[in-house]
Amino acid sequence: MCGIVGALANRPVAPLMMEALRRLEYRGYDSAGLATLTEGHMAIRRAPGKLSALSDLLEREPLSGASGIGHTRWATHGPPTLKNAHPHRAGRVAVVHNGIIENFAALRAELIANGRVFTSDTDTEAVAHLIDLALETGRTAEQAMAETMPRLRGAFALVILIEGEEDLLLAARRASPLAIGLGEGEAFIGSDAMALAPLTRRIIYLEDGDWAVVRRAGASLFDETGQPVERAMSISTVSGALIGKGNYRHFMEKEIFDQPDAIAHTLHAVIDPGTGASTLPPPMEQADQVSKITIVAAGTSYYASLVARYWFESLAGIGCEVEVASEFRDRDVVLPEGGVVIAVSQSGESLDTLMAMRRGRAAGQRILGLVNVPESTIARESDGVLLTRAGPEFGVAATKTFTAQLTAFLGLAIALGRAREHLAEARALELIAALSALPARVAEAVSDQQAFAPVTHMLARARDVLYLGRGLSYPMALEGALKLKEITYIHAEGYAAGEMKHGPIALIDEAVPVIGLAPSGPWFEKTVSNLAEARARGGRMVLITDAEGAGRLAVDGDHVLVLPTVDPMLTPILQAVHVQLLAYLTAVEKGTDADQPRNLAKSVTVE
Ligand code: F6R
Repeated sequence: MCGIVGALANRPVAPLMMEALRRLEYRGYDSAGLATLTEGHMAIRRAPGKLSALSDLLEREPLSGASGIGHTRWATHGPPTLKNAHPHRAGRVAVVHNGIIENFAALRAELIANGRVFTSDTDTEAVAHLIDLALETGRTAEQAMAETMPRLRGAFALVILIEGEEDLLLAARRASPLAIGLGEGEAFIGSDAMALAPLTRRIIYLEDGDWAVVRRAGASLFDETGQPVERAMSISTVSGALIGKGNYRHFMEKEIFDQPDAIAHTLHAVIDPGTGASTLPPPMEQADQVSKITIVAAGTSYYASLVARYWFESLAGIGCEVEVASEFRDRDVVLPEGGVVIAVSQSGESLDTLMAMRRGRAAGQRILGLVNVPESTIARESDGVLLTRAGPEFGVAATKTFTAQLTAFLGLAIALGRAREHLAEARALELIAALSALPARVAEAVSDQQAFAPVTHMLARARDVLYLGRGLSYPMALEGALKLKEITYIHAEGYAAGEMKHGPIALIDEAVPVIGLAPSGPWFEKTVSNLAEARARGGRMVLITDAEGAGRLAVDGDHVLVLPTVDPMLTPILQAVHVQLLAYLTAVEKGTDADQPRNLAKSVTVE
């Protein structure tokens, strides 16, 4: 999703901003641009496509200047063309923007009636005109901002550059993230601390509704009512080094292989594998007083949460609901006293999840954030944080953060189960031992890629693919289908295996590969029956199972992918690796861009 940078430096800013935009590339985008001021005059360079296109343009037409703003755009209003690329300029004012100005149509109509001419399809351009109009009528930059902010509706982050004002940037945040970085006589603005890491570690996070007047000497902040406010400065822990993909073809491949480490590091957040001791994060320290868990999340984080529901119910004896964040946030939810909302988000910035979490707080719940980015908005707004320690994830499709979420959830369920005396200590220790050995099992699962070739060859030629699973494997069927859709553009659906006979079975014929997730264990027999129904209709079976399951289930003609044997509670974490590899290797075979699939963004900061 859009990346924003701004710089007031004592050196040329174009290369600094290009580096910062590269560090935001992982968010997903389809055009990019910069604006700088040189001796008071503004110049803009924009290009559709990747940053390399903007870089080529800058080689031909360089930008000088020590003040500027930059942007990577993920299209919302208007296609990803040159005219819609940011920055957008009106008169003396250039604007970069992340999010959506909901009332832009009314503002645009009003501005056109005032004689303003629009050159793009975007909602952003209206902001540039509003500020420029205010400046034209004699307002100072600060007054223009104070007048404009209350007129904007929606969730957004903005940075504004004004011709003739070499020591000034205006910035605003409503829901979408934005951070100010303070250097030595320099000031910077970025969508996150990752963008700013090579420039400075001294970061001020704007709070919801804040806007700021930024100069090289520092920033003045105002809240949504226009009153001056102070916000704390923090020292970012994000590394300035840009992580590469090493010898891997894609970040996604590297991140699939990173999973043993991501799981091992995350496990330590809740469990001490040495002693077997487990800790409960706030607000769950009083485990017996937690009346209910409500999990809000989107996409892959939502599927991790569906797995967690099984664990919370079965290991901790706690009622648990899992909600799609974008739906939950707009419902009149009724939640019990003593309930905890867990907001699950690898980025910690998904706007839907942030809004759902706030809805949960408004309904009297305490909040636990489960995030991979410690300085993210969800982490900062939560009562307690459970951190996945997967390291930065750059592939748009979530992989290592997903298995890290599962690991954190399982550790938490064990800790809760013990504290509530629902889980027998011997079983808790058995699960902890299995979790401690899991990184080695995952390493085995990623290294065994031989068996995938005939399957990915078949999938790459399919039009539709079905994933079926029961119990703990059901969410993994959903996740497997999502991964395949996202990076190969093949239509895929995940179903509860028992639900198939209620409708989806009509889809099955000889052209449809059916991926059956059927580990030996509690749901095995019933899954076998459901898969037999699919096989009887000609479906081309791919079984993801363990050695025992393969022996009992496979028939001639089936493709079988065998997972290492683990405690049945842990199978989703291993299955994740196989569904990720299936999608990734199919994308490689089809030649689609696994790291930056079309239309997708890593950090979804619009509603
Ligand atoms: C899928 C994927 C997305 C995210 C979703 C939520 O591979 O990456 O579905 O899971 O956008 O993102 P976070 O977890 O950052 O809130």
